[in-house]
Amino acid sequence: MKGIILAGGTGTRLYPLTKVMTKQLQPIYDKPMIYYPLSLLMLCGIKEILIISTEQDLPNFKNLLGDGRHLGVKFDYVVQDSPRGIADAFILGEEFLSGSPSMLILGDNLFYGDYSPFRQAIKKQVSDFKEKKSSAHVFAYAVSDPGRYGVVEFDSETRRVLSIEEKPKKPKSSYAIPGLYLFDETVSQRARHQAPSPRGELEITDLMATYLNEGTLKVETINRGMAWLDTGTPKSLLEAWSFIAALEERQGLKVACLEEIALRMNFIDKNGLTQIIESIPKGPYQHYLINVLQEARSGQEVRDAIF
Ligand code: DAU
Repeated sequence: MKGIILAGGTGTRLYPLTKVMTKQLQPIYDKPMIYYPLSLLMLCGIKEILIISTEQDLPNFKNLLGDGRHLGVKFDYVVQDSPRGIADAFILGEEFLSGSPSMLILGDNLFYGDYSPFRQAIKKQVSDFKEKKSSAHVFAYAVSDPGRYGVVEFDSETRRVLSIEEKPKKPKSSYAIPGLYLFDETVSQRARHQAPSPRGELEITDLMATYLNEGTLKVETINRGMAWLDTGTPKSLLEAWSFIAALEERQGLKVACLEEIALRMNFIDKNGLTQIIESIPKGPYQHYLINVLQEARSGQEVRDAIF
């Protein structure tokens, strides 16, 4: 299973914040936004990750994240020269995927909670791949304003998926589809044959519809114990800041600390973390990592943290 983070686009709703820095590099409290979707992929055990962004912004992502070796993962980078749509990620990522199933996450989607539904979906996607069964797995999350998202309609008795619509004027349900999608190895080919929508984009909902029409789209409902946060407007950005700040201050644990996750996932060992600590500036972030290392060295039971 390979991962893709789509982190391009224009970020117009955050202008002028996005004039010199793309949305997915803006801070959410004490870390750049991309740390959050990236941490989800890492916590799901995904180690090969493609980051897609604009020509202007991609160098900044490379500066921030490098080739990933220090975290025990591998990052690849590809430019999207114009925002042709979310499904375009699979055309740009075709070579990177080279026949592997994939999990795509939008670089501005932030999830906090128990990630087991995502890990389960990966297991199912991988087992379908081994059995040569076509499939896609996506999620449904009840929101108060579904018209801003892709919306899924279920049959009220059987829970069978009836329709998927992108930003419908009259949503047929309150279930939005978050920006986290699992697809089989045929996805790039499907995206290449897709026609742009009336707004000129390769819509992710149209891509999902190809699986829905074949009866191979699985939609898992995520319950309210999971927080799915939006970061597209100044107000939602502020809310995401406050949410992360409140959690971190209360627990004394960081959300989406990539170096800590790399250690806890055994992507790196204690020596690897020591090298990172020595290479970063002295300050609260380094101090936090020193504590993580000391805890690991003392063999103390790892605190049951959800990142
Ligand atoms: O957040 C979940 C929603 O994301 C889904 O429910 C929708 O079905 C899906 O279309 C998407 O809706 P958005 O209105 O959030 O899409 P937006 O155009 O803002 O793009 C989402 C992110 O992807 C954004 O951070 C920019 C990036 N992007 C988008 C496009 C269209 C790219 O990097 N390249 C693109 O071509």
